[in-house]
Order: sequence, then structure tokens, then C-alpha cells
Amino acid sequence: MTEENTSCNAATRALALRTTLLPKDTNPAGTIFGGVILSLIDQAGEIAMRSINPHRRYVTIAMDSIMFHAPVFVGDLVSLYTCHVKVGNTSVSVQVDVMVERRDRPGAEVRVTEAKVTYVAIGGDGKPIPVNG
Ligand SMILES: CC(C)(COP(=O)(O)OP(=O)(O)OC[C@H]1O[C@@H](n2cnc3c(N)ncnc32)[C@H](O)[C@@H]1OP(=O)(O)O)[C@@H](O)C(=O)NCCC(=O)NCCS
Repeated sequence: MTEENTSCNAATRALALRTTLLPKDTNPAGTIFGGVILSLIDQAGEIAMRSINPHRRYVTIAMDSIMFHAPVFVGDLVSLYTCHVKVGNTSVSVQVDVMVERRDRPGAEVRVTEAKVTYVAIGGDGKPIPVNG
């Protein structure tokens, strides 16, 4: 069975967030803690939601298909790209790809993590409401 390739490609992706990380973000192995990357993925997805309907508030309902392909190191330039946005009634799913540029290889981006994140638009009572309309 062939696995569907859902990764973002350079033509369709949008840059949501770019940062570098510090020694405080590392795990005992000396690489960046996975939870820090998950937090960045969630932030990048939320930023992407602003372009769907900036007047809505969103909460994360699911993070799926998370794959950590390669480690992130202190000092890497970390870029989070979004693509494949799918708008439902009250929910929006987005693919988030995390790419890094190593300090010793400027200009060469490596995909380190990817995930699909789903957000739900909520009203003042915390219940789902239509994304549009
Ligand atoms: C988000 C929340 C308001 C949704 O309430 P709910 O009554 O469970 O929602 P519904 O069953 O009506 O589903 C709402 C939408 O989410 C989608 N959905 C539900 N479960 C899903 C899942 N596991 N994965 C992806 N989408 C899902 C539904 O298909 C629906 O989308 P649609 O309207 O576009 O078809 C509620 O689950 C919640 O408050 N969760 C906590 C959110 C939060 O605090 N996140 C921060 C992390 S701490």
C-alpha cells in the first residue's frame, strides 16, 4: 500500500512562523524537546486560522499524523509552513510542516516534523459554531 504524501510543497505552502530555540528547550539527549515543537506546530496552525476567518476564536481539537523525522538542534533556524487547509462546517484542518536550516548549512532546509492539526471555531459559550457565516 502506498502512503499518501501530504507534506507541503514549496509552491503551495505558507510561512506561518519562524524562530530559533535555546538550550532551555532541550531534552536530556541535548536536542530540542518534542513538546516544544508540538507547541510551535499548534501556534503555527492557529496563525493559519486567521486567514480563514479572523473574526472567529479557535481551539485545537486534534493533532494527528505527527511524525518527527529528524532532530532539531539549538541554533537551527526553525520555519513552520502550513498547507492543505480543509474547511468543514465548524472545523478546519491544516497540514503543518516544520523545516530547519542548520547553522552549518545555510540555505538548505530539512523537513524535521509534520502534523495535521484540526481546530474548531467556538462561540462565547465554548460550543462549536460555523467557521463561516
Ligand atoms: C472543541 C470542542 C468545543 C468541540 O466540541 P464537540 O461538541 O466535541 O464538537 P463536535 O462533535 O460538534 O465536532 C466539532 C467539529 O470537530 C470535528 N471533530 C470532532 N472530533 C474530531 C477529531 N478527533 N479529529 C478531527 N476533527 C474532529 C467534527 O467533525 C466537527 O467538525 P465539522 O463541524 O466541520 O464537521 C470540545 O471538544 C472542546 O472544548 N475541546 C477542548 C479544546 C481545547 O481546550 N483545546 C486546547 C487544548 S488544551
